[in-house]
Amino acid sequence: MVDLRVPYRPIIAYRPIRPSDFAILEKIHGDLFPIRYESEFFHNVVNGHDIVSWGAVDHSRPNEQSDELIGFVTARIVSAKDSEIEDLLSFDLSKTDQTLVYILTLGVVESYRNLGIASSLINEVTKYASNVYTCRAVYLHVISYNNPAIHFYKKMSFQCLRRLYNFYYINGHHYDSFLFVYYVNGGRSPCSPLELVTLFVTYAKSGFKSVAAKLWRNEERKISKWPKCKESGCLLPTVQNKRSVTGEGSRCQFV
Ligand SMILES: CC(C)(COP(=O)(O)OP(=O)(O)OC[C@H]1O[C@@H](n2cnc3c(N)ncnc32)[C@H](O)[C@@H]1OP(=O)(O)O)[C@@H](O)C(=O)NCCC(=O)NCCS
Repeated sequence: MVDLRVPYRPIIAYRPIRPSDFAILEKIHGDLFPIRYESEFFHNVVNGHDIVSWGAVDHSRPNEQSDELIGFVTARIVSAKDSEIEDLLSFDLSKTDQTLVYILTLGVVESYRNLGIASSLINEVTKYASNVYTCRAVYLHVISYNNPAIHFYKKMSFQCLRRLYNFYYINGHHYDSFLFVYYVNGGRSPCSPLELVTLFVTYAKSGFKSVAAKLWRNEERKISKWPKCKESGCLLPTVQNKRSVTGEGSRCQFV
């Protein structure tokens, strides 16, 4: 059972999740999430089957609780090519083994919130992903009404790249989700069709401007009494035309 009283000075430590954490992990998931997870999920987490995980404990708690989980993060490595965010990655087709880390669950017991525990857990995940040389990004979904989590991931420099309508179906209701991505190891989003068009237009414009400038200079030489005209337009292509929408008080970029 989780004791909801936080000692004055918690001593937070992070460690891998182990088989002995099964019951508390299942309990905290039940308390924090509207979705029920199968026993098999917890079995896979505590045994590290296909899932990587980190737990947070508070060593300042009384003996029997000093190693009890008060926070956790679970994640899975997936193939980038088969993932739903394949189109959000700038792909090197010669490297077919590129991977992603997908965060499955993240939670901190209520009385331990706002102490930076989730931040440390996410830092463990991004550090881990950065050390997997094939990994290009960490990503996850957040239900659209979970403002604390949305605020949290933005603060952790994740980019909100997509809104998925009716992604969740919980107790007879549909809910949207936001997709957050954190690129690692040089991973980045590709140019969207809109960006390609913008680039093309910018180049075409700059080409037109330089031709016009040449003609102008020729004319200027011919008619030297005309005042001098300074070319002030920036010829470098700028790509700023990402569409932005506002959803549930959160500003998200759509690529
Ligand atoms: C989201 C969650 C994991 C954050 O855990 P945490 O340990 O409190 O996070 P941190 O202490 O590292 O806080 C980081 C930031 O999140 C903000 N934050 C945390 N809880 C918040 C809340 N309830 N409301 C608003 N912001 C909140 C903090 O203010 C902090 O930002 P700041 O430094 O700008 O103030 C935690 O609220 C939680 O377990 N929620 C329930 C489960 C959940 O929603 N998981 C995410 C599903 S994807």
